[in-house]
Amino acid sequence: MKIAIGCDHIVTDVKDKLKEALIQNGHQILDVGTYDFVRTHYPIFGQKIAEAVVHKKCDFGIAICGTGVGISNSAQKIKGARVALIRDLSAAKIARKQYNANIIAFGGRITGLGIMEEAVDIFINQKFTGDQKLVDFLDGIVKENKEVSFAKELADWEKGKYHD
Ligand code: RB5
Repeated sequence: MKIAIGCDHIVTDVKDKLKEALIQNGHQILDVGTYDFVRTHYPIFGQKIAEAVVHKKCDFGIAICGTGVGISNSAQKIKGARVALIRDLSAAKIARKQYNANIIAFGGRITGLGIMEEAVDIFINQKFTGDQKLVDFLDGIVKENKEVSFAKELADWEKGKYHD
């Protein structure tokens, strides 16, 4: 599978460990950052993960911030992203089976790596067997992608000028 993964600065180490485990399991990873522990903002990475999935650069996405709340909400704003904030294995299964979620999110300060690794495995291998009409309804709730103006932050980030 090709998987987009991203996080904010307080869980970069968690993201790197999960990424390493996924590579060991034969997955191809698109790491959209962040790559260090310098203060940044989770919506930047939620948006990047969701866009990689929605634009079909990746099969699935993994989003991690401290609680998982900020980055999952951010990714959810992108039309076509169906994000599940997961803390247990049964929800990881149902998120795919019934809701056809395409991004799994975690609180890296809340959920342990062991659960994350297993949850991702369950999530990406579970087939969707739910009601497609409901999924279409969900996708239809977001009418358009508004241009969220993180363009300046992203440009500054690329130039190495980023300051909190
Ligand atoms: C740090 O910015 C922290 O607020 C963030 O990682 C997350 O916990 C938000 O939901």
